[in-house]
Amino acid sequence: MEEMKKGLEGVVALDTRISFIDGIRGILKYRGIRIEELVDLPYDVVSYLLINAKIPDEAELSEYSHRLRKDRYIDDKLIDILKGFDFGSDALDGLRTAVSCTSHIDDENNHHSPDANRNKTVRLVAKFPTIVAAMHRNSIGKEPIKPNEELSHGANFLYMLNGRLPTVLEAEAMEKDLILSAEHELNPSTFSLRIAASTLSDMYSAVICGLCTLKGPLHGGARKGVMDMLDEVGSRENARDYVLQKLERKEKVMGFGHRVYKTYDPRARIYRDVARRLAIERGDTGWYEMAEEIEHILYHEFIEIRGKPIYPNVDFYSAVVYKYLDIPSELATSIFAMGRVSGWIAHCMEQYCDNKVIRPRAHSV
Ligand code: COA
Repeated sequence: MEEMKKGLEGVVALDTRISFIDGIRGILKYRGIRIEELVDLPYDVVSYLLINAKIPDEAELSEYSHRLRKDRYIDDKLIDILKGFDFGSDALDGLRTAVSCTSHIDDENNHHSPDANRNKTVRLVAKFPTIVAAMHRNSIGKEPIKPNEELSHGANFLYMLNGRLPTVLEAEAMEKDLILSAEHELNPSTFSLRIAASTLSDMYSAVICGLCTLKGPLHGGARKGVMDMLDEVGSRENARDYVLQKLERKEKVMGFGHRVYKTYDPRARIYRDVARRLAIERGDTGWYEMAEEIEHILYHEFIEIRGKPIYPNVDFYSAVVYKYLDIPSELATSIFAMGRVSGWIAHCMEQYCDNKVIRPRAHSV
């Protein structure tokens, strides 16, 4: 038998054309294009690129955006179901239930033709923000707000969440967040989705596998963990004691470290800049300065203890961005999923196109 690699560390499980990571040089590309070039585009363009392997021309973008905007609405039956539950500390549980319910309402759920899969793609990408915003409105005792077809994917989400039009910078921040969250090669949630797809299970089921895996605090749940940590630290002055106590107890500081990146995560750099700009617009740099202090302390402590630094990952400064967008931490993982769903669907299609069931072995000990 082959050597067992705990956590599959360093194991290459499949070929993909969807994204590329150079963890040593801190490079991330979607479909061959660096993330720094993509982050200023609309989310619709990046979603199309991931799923269709090309930047859309004007007609293709117009059609895709039109379909996404028309499909934002969710069924009243689904809203009623969501009203019946209290999803507690993580709305991802509700999103998972809602996606499952949506599959029951979708006549094409168990159809696997390219057309059916294209239709399901649009429905999933379009409806995620409406579901997340509706769950939040329910949880604060307010009626859900209908989608606004005039607004971009990100701006419409903030509008449905808060009932007010976002500022230009807030809308930009939300679009960038969705793009930076959209895809990351064979991360745990994408891997679990590809396992489901490799059994030729349907797209909804595969996406639900992705959601369930994203929830964990060592993956997408870390974003919520960072938001809760920022609340707990409370001020820049408390940052040092907080970090040192965490390290003494051998606990992880959420939002730091990465299996693949051994340098600064390129997404974290972009999020840091967005967080700084939002802080200035708000006239309140408190969260941003606290985050920078945590980063600084952890960087130097790691050099002292281990002889090498540790860097923030995608979840660290994204959490600071959410703080400035007044997003409650219960929504953080679901908002991550709103962006990631495009990448998941791209992987689902790639798996269907050249399939072999994913079934590794285990050593019996
Ligand atoms: N805080 C404190 N110590 C950390 C750390 C963190 N965020 N991330 C890694 N370390 C330490 C580990 O304790 C481990 O120490 P050890 O060798 O003494 O056991 C060492 O660095 C290697 O980390 P490990 O967890 O084994 O690496 P991994 O590749 O298995 O895991 C993560 C990578 C991302 C799961 C890990 O860094 C982590 O748990 N980070 C916090 C959660 C998080 O932000 N997740 C989002 C990922 S995008």
